[in-house]
Amino acid sequence: MRWDFEKLTAEAGQEIAACSDLKTLEALRVKFLGRKGLLTEIYASLPTLSAEEKPLVGKGANELRNKVTQLLEEKKNILESSSSSGPAHSIDVSLPGVAPLVGHAHILSQIVEEICGAFEHLGFVVQDGPEIETEFNNFTALNIPADHPSRDSFDTFYLETPDPDQKGRNLLLRSQTSPVQIRLMKQFKPPFAVIVPGKVYRPDAVDASHSFVFHQIEGLLVDEDIKFSDLKGLLTAFCQRLFGDKTRMRFRPHYFPFTEPSAEVDISCYICDGKGCSVCGKKGWLEIMGCGMVNPKVFEAVGYPKGKYTGLAFGMGVERMAMLKYGINDIRIFSENDVRFLKQF
Ligand code: DAH
Repeated sequence: MRWDFEKLTAEAGQEIAACSDLKTLEALRVKFLGRKGLLTEIYASLPTLSAEEKPLVGKGANELRNKVTQLLEEKKNILESSSSSGPAHSIDVSLPGVAPLVGHAHILSQIVEEICGAFEHLGFVVQDGPEIETEFNNFTALNIPADHPSRDSFDTFYLETPDPDQKGRNLLLRSQTSPVQIRLMKQFKPPFAVIVPGKVYRPDAVDASHSFVFHQIEGLLVDEDIKFSDLKGLLTAFCQRLFGDKTRMRFRPHYFPFTEPSAEVDISCYICDGKGCSVCGKKGWLEIMGCGMVNPKVFEAVGYPKGKYTGLAFGMGVERMAMLKYGINDIRIFSENDVRFLKQF
């Protein structure tokens, strides 16, 4: 026979297998299956063949055509898929890379961490307490009288759940972190120093400086001989750490029922250094927290022996601290989840 189909099939198979790009593959297709290709030549020779040869060559040619078509098809699939994603073709090292997006702690979490860290450095231990509180812990034990306006339902969120310990009283969402003082004083025997971050709730209409939920950090130190000078020294060290060494501080007399004496702490404005600007409202000072010496009535409420202990306490708003530190003028932006804002910190 003029055609050795076994050999032709083997050769075509080798050539197709060795082919490594689509252009060469197309040339092979033309070579075997094209109008002037091998198979056309074989079919064209059929009329010249003898009656015995014709069916054999016809069958061999059909088988060769089917095999070559199949091999070309398979190779084409392989080359096409590797040219779009295969390692040899897909990596262009000159293109800019795709960096994975990495998140980070929210600005308020960072501030909480920074403030608690500063106090931990001074020997305080971080503690927490529940957001659902009793009226006793949130008000009564803190020496806040029964007719105090902050107890009004305009100023405190009361729950419908009754307080299991106080008949006729309902539980509430704590309006300050100070009730954790009561819980910790009952739990620990002095001396101890605790720093307590957490959420607090007040039914305020939301505006640039108010929100129905915000964060506070409460501090409490109790021992046998704590003095007002300890409070001043402690808070001076803290303010300088948070706002810089040059920051000046002043204590303004104030009133809180749970501390006596009480004060509000101001720092010199970090923008104008006390000269007066729009951030400090031309005062030169920024109010940052409330503080004082623990009122003996609070010690009495938790059952400490009369006259044995003294203590200092302080409380600050986290959003306020963040706003002061970074010159942010709207409290709502902390919870709007605007990544353009959040990623700046
Ligand atoms: N609980 C007070 C408030 O929400 C803040 C505060 C003031 C806490 C004085 C204290 C303190 O521990 O001594 O306004």
